[in-house]
Amino acid sequence: MNASPTVIVLLGPPGAGKGTQAHILEEKFGLIQLSTGDMLRAAVAAQTPAGKEAKSVMEAGGLVDDRIVLEILKNRLEQPDIKRGVIFDGFPRTVGQAGSLDKMLSEKGQNVNAAISLDVDDEAMIVRISGRYACESCGEGYHDAFKRPHHEGVCDGCGGAKFIRRADDNADTVRERLVTYHKQTAPLIDYYDRLGVLTRVDAMKSIAEVQEMLARIVMSID
Ligand code: AP5
Repeated sequence: MNASPTVIVLLGPPGAGKGTQAHILEEKFGLIQLSTGDMLRAAVAAQTPAGKEAKSVMEAGGLVDDRIVLEILKNRLEQPDIKRGVIFDGFPRTVGQAGSLDKMLSEKGQNVNAAISLDVDDEAMIVRISGRYACESCGEGYHDAFKRPHHEGVCDGCGGAKFIRRADDNADTVRERLVTYHKQTAPLIDYYDRLGVLTRVDAMKSIAEVQEMLARIVMSID
């Protein structure tokens, strides 16, 4: 990998595996996972002004206003651990956000090194989302069919015994999130292709197989 901080963008529809893969890459390569979805959910839970504004939009499956997203992200990007390199998970989500990211990076003499599109079909995505749950204490993610804890009812990560499902993982919101993805986020595939940094990955494969493909891409960044 290169000497200046590596910047990776993970693209893909809801349930494509962005969070799952970013988490593994974080552990494997010491990069920092930056999920705007996680940041917004934390703001909603803390009932901050931004969280209050974002809540209804997230519940409806739309996109939160760029102003809120960029503000939350800018604060996080000021933290010193970011120097190790980042994996954006769920950001950018519009061509406008991609432009803002390019601007923020170019001010520091950086750019997106790799944009990876995790390609899954719409039906698989619904199966993945409807089976998803996470440990309430540490956030470790699981799936009813594809990734259960080694000991049923006990989190592999922290030993916690309480699990939660996301409020926006219900059928109606998932359908709306998918429409939003195709309309507003999918154009980013062309955007990054034009910049010459795009790789498309078949994310219908298993978690381990997808991870192998991503690790190869990360190791090839120079
Ligand atoms: P966000 O939290 O980003 O949700 P999302 O993009 O809809 O993506 P998900 O987290 O649902 O899916 P994922 O791709 O991470 O899949 P996962 O790894 O969990 O955003 C939520 C909301 O916040 C948005 O709708 C929007 O309102 C707002 N928001 C966020 N960012 C924003 C932004 N930048 N601008 C504006 N608004 C924003 O995997 C899913 C399940 O499948 C898991 O159970 C996993 O174990 C399983 N799985 C993963 N990979 C595989 C595999 N290869 N095979 C089988 N199972 C698999």
